[in-house]
Amino acid sequence: MRIENPRYTERFGSVRVNDVQKVLELDSGRAKEIPLQENIAVQKIEEDTIKDIEEKMAIVIPTKDEKLKLFEGVIRGVPHECLIIVVSNSQRKPVDRFRMEQDAIKQFCHFTHHQALIIHQKDPILAQAVAEAGYTDLLDEDERVRDGKAEGMVAAMLIAIMANKDYVGFVDADNYFPGAVWEYAKCYAAGFSMAKSPYAMVRILWHYKPKISAGMYFKKWGRVSETTNKCMNSLISTKTGFETDVIKTGNAGEHAMSLRLAEILPYASGYAIEPQELVSILEGFGGVLPVAHQTVAKHGVEVLQIETLNPHLHEEKGLDHLKGMLLPGLGAVYHTPLCDAETKQLILGELQQQDAIKPDEEPPKPHISAPPKKVNRQKFAEVIKEHLDSYSALEKK
Ligand code: GDD
Ligand code: MG
Repeated sequence: MRIENPRYTERFGSVRVNDVQKVLELDSGRAKEIPLQENIAVQKIEEDTIKDIEEKMAIVIPTKDEKLKLFEGVIRGVPHECLIIVVSNSQRKPVDRFRMEQDAIKQFCHFTHHQALIIHQKDPILAQAVAEAGYTDLLDEDERVRDGKAEGMVAAMLIAIMANKDYVGFVDADNYFPGAVWEYAKCYAAGFSMAKSPYAMVRILWHYKPKISAGMYFKKWGRVSETTNKCMNSLISTKTGFETDVIKTGNAGEHAMSLRLAEILPYASGYAIEPQELVSILEGFGGVLPVAHQTVAKHGVEVLQIETLNPHLHEEKGLDHLKGMLLPGLGAVYHTPLCDAETKQLILGELQQQDAIKPDEEPPKPHISAPPKKVNRQKFAEVIKEHLDSYSALEKK
């Protein structure tokens, strides 16, 4: 893969946010014994380097009642070396959609020997493992894992830690292009190979997100992303006194982290998770509030933003769904102690204009779960491992 080097980096305390790096070539050819004189603006990431990282990476697919054909395409797009972890909140009745997903994974693994795990978010064993590990933040009043994409992602992180992975990447299950999924995973690996800190995050910026109206229109920015980025940049600008537009991936559902970073961040519920990750990094290491971990601050936390070549085409879920994503995301920005009056005003204005709140309302404060590091991972593994076979579609190579 050939990819731009980061050309501009903004620094906040010990956080480094790199401006967008574009993918120039998906396949950059064989490794040459004598490396070509590379242009310093561009980096060639060798296939072996990417594969080495993929072997240490779990790709998590959160899913809830997506079309089976899309789900099947997504799992087929994940590079072979990555462990697939599916956490599903799909319905069990009247049609058992989860069973269909399990069958699809099983068949896929049978013919490809790809390693994969699938578990239902409401499985009582998962809830028991989470409870015995002391992670009650993740449980609802019925003592099951709470609903929500974020909760599925956090449960999957615990499984990735248990599987001794070093990196975790997230990919939505409703993507129409397996090739885009493949590219996301490659970009995650390429990003980690370029990162200078072991505490790194790679966030994907889509080249285009096509909309189908009269014809196909290759739209670059979605409304939710545009608004979240604007508010997040305002939060940073008012703190530093210098206006910035460095955040281009405030909502990036497609993103990855080194597990060393993933395990020390607190997580917001549902669709607030991605904006909250950036907020948590800025709170913990941005130099305004007390430093969360001195050793991490010494290395610094690095955020890479990579623009892919494949367009992102996923299921359209309607205007209410978009509001349901905008509101919690901006709630994460609004309620951080870093948020100043000016940014709060901007957020309220945006939400009112988009009809997401009434003039006297505020966005909701996100429910925050403690960092996974605080969890007793031994206990979690003991409970889950015993039952792994019944969840697992894993076949030995
Ligand atoms: N396990 C689980 N549990 N998965 C869920 C749940 C849940 O309760 N709710 C939704 N999902 C899955 C969906 O099936 C899909 O695979 C993925 O989470 C994303 O959900 P969508 O409903 O498709 O979200 P979106 O397309 O509107 O927004 C996506 O992109 C945004 C911008 O990048 C999400 O990834 C957002 O989080 C992201 O901000
Ligand atoms: Mg979607």
